[in-house]
Amino acid sequence: MEMSVLWSLALYFLLVCNGVHVEASNHTHRNLQSLPKEQPYRTAYHFQPLKNWMNDPNGPMYYKGVYHLFFQHNPYTPVPGNIAWGHSISYDLVNWVHLEPAISPSEPYDIYGCYSGSTTILPSGKPAILYTGVDLNNGQVQNLAMPKNASDPLLREWVKSPLNPLISPVDDIDRSDFRDPTTAWQGPDKVWRVIIGGRINAVGLAFLYQSKDFVNWTRSNKPLHSSNKTGMWECPDFYPVRINSQNGINNFAQDKFTKHVLKASFKDQDHYILGNYIPQTDNFSIEYDFMETGFDLRYDYGKFYASKTFYDSAKKRRILWGWVAESDTALDAIIKGWAGIQSFPRSIVLSANGRQLVQWPINEIEKLRTNNVSFEGKELKQGSVLEVSGITASQADVEVSFDLPNLSETESIDPNQVDPQQLCSQKGASTNNGTVGPFGLLALASKDLTEQTAVFFRIFKRDGKRVALMCSDQSHL
Ligand SMILES: *[C@@H]1O[C@H](CO)[C@@H](O)[C@H](O)[C@H]1NC(C)=O
Ligand SMILES: *[C@@H]1O[C@H](CO)[C@@H](O)[C@H](O)[C@H]1NC(C)=O
Ligand SMILES: *[C@@H]1O[C@H](CO)[C@@H](O)[C@H](O)[C@H]1NC(C)=O
Ligand SMILES: *[C@@H]1O[C@H](CO)[C@@H](O)[C@H](O)[C@H]1NC(C)=O
Ligand SMILES: *[C@@H]1O[C@H](CO)[C@@H](O)[C@H](O)[C@H]1NC(C)=O
Ligand SMILES: *[C@@H]1O[C@H](CO)[C@@H](O)[C@H](O)[C@H]1NC(C)=O
Ligand SMILES: *[C@@H]1O[C@H](CO)[C@@H](O)[C@H](O)[C@H]1NC(C)=O
Ligand SMILES: *[C@@H]1O[C@H](CO)[C@@H](O)[C@H](O)[C@H]1NC(C)=O
Repeated sequence: MEMSVLWSLALYFLLVCNGVHVEASNHTHRNLQSLPKEQPYRTAYHFQPLKNWMNDPNGPMYYKGVYHLFFQHNPYTPVPGNIAWGHSISYDLVNWVHLEPAISPSEPYDIYGCYSGSTTILPSGKPAILYTGVDLNNGQVQNLAMPKNASDPLLREWVKSPLNPLISPVDDIDRSDFRDPTTAWQGPDKVWRVIIGGRINAVGLAFLYQSKDFVNWTRSNKPLHSSNKTGMWECPDFYPVRINSQNGINNFAQDKFTKHVLKASFKDQDHYILGNYIPQTDNFSIEYDFMETGFDLRYDYGKFYASKTFYDSAKKRRILWGWVAESDTALDAIIKGWAGIQSFPRSIVLSANGRQLVQWPINEIEKLRTNNVSFEGKELKQGSVLEVSGITASQADVEVSFDLPNLSETESIDPNQVDPQQLCSQKGASTNNGTVGPFGLLALASKDLTEQTAVFFRIFKRDGKRVALMCSDQSHL
C-alpha cells in the first residue's frame, strides 16, 4: 500500500530563484536508466548491495585488475545487526558484481559483529584485512584475515588468522570505543604502523600500534594525534597527498613533496586536518587542529560519514568512498527492502594553495549518462519556478550554469561572525531573500512544492572577493 502511494506521487525537477533574477544557460540533465517499479527510489548511480542494510565502506582496493569494495552489511534485513563484510567487485568502479560476504561473525573474537577496518597490500603482493571484531564479552578487538587463494583476483574466500585477536583493549583503553583499524604502512625502518580510533575519557584519539611481522602489534607510547574537542574518533584514515599534483600516492610515500591527511569521523561528520608526518619519530605536526574556528575542514557538509580512501595504482589517483545514511524509519527500510548507499567514488587531491582537499566524482561515472535533456537560455525572474520536463525527478545527473547579470549589491559575509553551515541549515534558508540568491534546483518536488529538496546557492562578498555558498536543504533529515 505504502509503495503504491509513493509510486503514484508525481514529482518534478525545478529551477527556482528567490533573489535577483538569474539566467540559467547550457543547462543539461541526464536522465538515468529506468527504475524498477517495485523499487522506485533505488539508486542507479550510487553503489548499493542487492538488498538489506549497508553502512561504512571497508577496505576498498585495486587488486590484480579488479576493484574491490567491502562494506558493513546486514545480509538478512535492512536494519543494523549481524554485521558482516559485504563484498562486491568491479572493473570500472561503476558496474558491480555482488559476491558472498568476505567475513562474517563466527568466532569468539568476532561473534557479535565483523566491524569496520581496512585492507593493506603486503610487500608479497597479498592483501590483508584488519578489522574490528566484537567479542563474546562485548569488547572491541582487532583481527586479521587473509585470502584463501591470493591467485584468485576476485578474492572470494577469506581465512581468519588463528592468532586472532591480534590487539585487545587493555590498560586505559575503553573496550567499547576501540575500533576501525586503517590501512597499515611501513616506515623506513620496515616496521609496520597502523592507527585505531578511540577515546580516553573525553579525548578522541588515534591509537598508534607498531609491528615487525603484521601479527605481533605493540602500542606506541603516544597516539598519532588526539583532541579534547571532538569526542570518540571512528573510522580514522591517514594518508599522504602530493603537493601541486592531481596524482595520488600510496600510503607508504613520504617526502618533501607530500602532506599527510588525518581524517576522523565524529559528531556525524568526517573532519580532517593536514600536517607533516615524520615516520622516523611518528611525529605528526599539524597546521590547524580539529574544530578550530574558521578551519574546521570536512569532506562534505551533507550526509557523508565513516569514509575511507584507497590508492588506485591503475590510474594513480586516490579515491574516496563515504557512507550516505538515510533518515527513513526502520519500518520504511523494511518496506523498501534496503537502507544505505555509498557516495559516488570521488578522486581527492590537495588544492593548489595546499590548504584543503578538493574532490570530484571519478570520470567513469559519466558512462552512466543517457537521455541527454537540454534546457537552455531561460530567465529566472525573482520568485519564479521553472519546470524541467523530460526527466524523472528521482535521479538526474545535472550540469548547470547560472549567469548573474548584476552583482552590484552583493552582501558581505564574515566567516568569523557567520558560520556558513549554520546559514545553509537555517529554517527557510532556500527561500530567504538574499541580495543575490538563493537560486538553484528543487529536486523531488511535488506540484504544490510541499514536498521538495532544495539545492541552492547564495552569493556573498568576502575580503573584496565574491564567494558562492552552496547548500542543500537538510531540514527533512
Ligand atoms: C556553458 O557556458 C559557459 C559560458 O558561455 C561556457 O564557458 C561553458 O563551457 C559552457 N559549458 C558547457 C558544458 O557547455
Ligand atoms: C586459485 O585461483 C586461481 C585463479 O582463479 C585458480 O586457477 C586456482 O585453481 C585456485 N586454486 C585453488 C586451490 O582453488
Ligand atoms: C612482540 O613484539 C615485541 C616488541 O617488538 C616483543 O618485545 C615481543 O617479544 C614480541 N612478542 C612475540 C610473542 O613475538
Ligand atoms: C584541551 O587541549 C588543549 C591543547 O591540547 C589544552 O590547552 C586544554 O587545556 C585542554 N582542555 C581540557 C578541558 O582538557
Ligand atoms: C613534533 O612536532 C611538534 C610540533 O607539532 C614539535 O613541537 C616537536 O618538537 C616535534 N618533535 C619531534 C621529536 O620532532
Ligand atoms: C547534451 O546536450 C547539450 C546541448 O545540446 C550538449 O552541449 C552536450 O554536449 C550534450 N551532452 C552529452 C553528454 O551528450
Ligand atoms: C544593478 O542593480 C543596481 C541596484 O539594484 C542598479 O542600481 C543598477 O542600475 C543595476 N545595473 C545594471 C547594469 O542593471
Ligand atoms: C523578497 O524581495 C522582493 C523584492 O525585493 C519582494 O517582492 C518579496 O516579497 C520578498 N520576499 C520575501 C519572502 O520576503
